Formats: sequence, structure tokens, C-alpha cells
Amino acid sequence: MIIAITNQKGGVGKTTTAVNLAAALAQSGRRVLLIDLDPQGNSSTSLGIEKNGIKHSIYEVLFGHSSLKKAMIKPTSEDLWIIPATPDLSGAEIELAGEPNREYRLRERLDSMTLEMDLILIDCPPSLGLLTLNALVAAHGVIIPVQCEFLALEGLSQLMRILEIVRKRLNPALAITGILLTMYDKRSKLIRLVVKDVEKYFPDQVFETNIPRNITVSESQSHGKPLVWFDKKSKAAKAYLKLAKEFAKRVSLNKAKN
Ligand SMILES: Nc1ncnc2c1ncn2[C@@H]1O[C@H](COP(=O)(O)OP(=O)(O)OP(=O)(O)O)[C@@H](O)[C@H]1O
Ligand SMILES: [Mg+2]
Repeated sequence: MIIAITNQKGGVGKTTTAVNLAAALAQSGRRVLLIDLDPQGNSSTSLGIEKNGIKHSIYEVLFGHSSLKKAMIKPTSEDLWIIPATPDLSGAEIELAGEPNREYRLRERLDSMTLEMDLILIDCPPSLGLLTLNALVAAHGVIIPVQCEFLALEGLSQLMRILEIVRKRLNPALAITGILLTMYDKRSKLIRLVVKDVEKYFPDQVFETNIPRNITVSESQSHGKPLVWFDKKSKAAKAYLKLAKEFAKRVSLNKAKN
């Protein structure tokens, strides 16, 4: 199963969600591949990958200069692999523009890996360009992290329209796996109102679990370790572990082996 984690808005928790969901599900015995499809390479950094020496990244995979297998890195003993992104990827949008089948590149490359992995997660960049489109065409479902703040609903409605277009033209099977409310702060009345609004408009899609705002998130990133491994007792880690269970149930993911 392939799931894209997407929102055209920057800084809403896409990478944090991708890395921690991947780490939580790998620790519960699933084989997980995380694809860093963002030229910023934040997922790669969050897993402690040093980008300077990388020869095979998602860029080389997209353009057929490297195989998936060659580009996969396994940073720990857990069954978690990552295909890293380097700054090279920032040119990919323009380079892809003139290519045939430009929206299907990632899907074609991933075909051979879907049976070997229980889950492939794609961390998207904060835009709706060709890279994100490649993720949406390859994916069976999307997780949409939404930061609990004023105007959250506006960006979300725009994204929903884009997903509808992708479904009509490129990938009819694309499902909305769930909307995830991030950086939640129950002390703020405004945030509580925003959450109510999102739940009103998208009652079936919003995950029951939301992610609280918590300082341990950025601390774990600076240590190059997913929060759910670095400090599993923190509030945000507990929330991500709960989300992993809710997600696995929602998509009927293969049972954990331990
Ligand atoms: N639950 C949280 N509590 C506190 N800080 C958080 C939380 N989730 C994310 N952050 C912080 O917010 C910032 C943005 O998070 P993240 O990188 O996951 O978002 P993103 O959507 O991937 O951003 P981009 O669009 O740039 O790729 C980071 O500095 C991260 O440490
Ligand atoms: Mg990111």
C-alpha cells in the first residue's frame, strides 16, 4: 500500500507525520519504506541521513539513473528504509515537465516494490507541482496533516478540489485516508473552534487522534531520530503511536509480527 502525506501549505507537520508514522509502524513489525520527495530533504535529515555523500537519491530513481534498491537506505536495525532526497531534486519539476509520462514516473518505479513492503509512505513538498502530482498518481490514499490555526479550512478546500481533479484524470482509485489535526493546543479557544469547523466539513475523514503541540518534536529532529524512538513517553510521541494504530486499522494494514 502506498500513502502520500500531502498539503500544499508549508510547515503543517507533513514530515513529522511521515517520519513518526513510518517509525512507529516499523517498530511494530511492518516493513516500511519512506520516500523523501521534498528537495528540502527534511525526512532524510530527521532519520539522521548525511546528505553530502549520497549518490543514489529519489532524483536518480525518478529519472531512471538508479534502481529503487540501490537508493534505499536502512538507517537502523528496524525494518524501516528511506529513499533520501538531495537538493538535486529542486530541478526535477522543470526537468520532468518535458518528459513523456511525467506524472507516472514514481508510480512506474514503485511498482516492483509494493509487494516487498507492507507500507510505502511518501513525504511531499509544500506545493502542488509535478513532484506532488507524481505522489498522488502513485498513491492509494493520502493523509492530509492540517495545522490547527485560523484559515486552515481554506487551504484544505483547495486541496480537496485538486484531489478531485487527480481522481478524475489520473488516479480514480485515490482515497482520502485521513485528515490529521496537528499542533493542537486545547488551551486555545480559537484552535478549538477551527477543529470543530474542520470536523463539521469533513466528519468521516478526520482522524480521531490529533497531535498536540510539543517541544520534543523539534528536539528529536535535531538528534536525527524519530520522536517515537527518541522519547516515546512524550505527549506527541504517544499521539503518533496512537495514530499508527488508528491508521493501521483504517487501511487494514497487514498485522504486526510482534
Ligand atoms: N506537534 C508538533 N509540536 C511542535 N512542533 C511541531 C509539531 N509538529 C511539527 N512541528 C514543528 O513544525 C515545523 C514544521 O514541521 P514539519 O517539518 O513536519 O512540517 P512540513 O509540513 O513537513 O513542512 P514543509 O512544508 O516545509 O515540508 C518543524 O520545525 C517541526 O519541528
Ligand atoms: Mg516537510
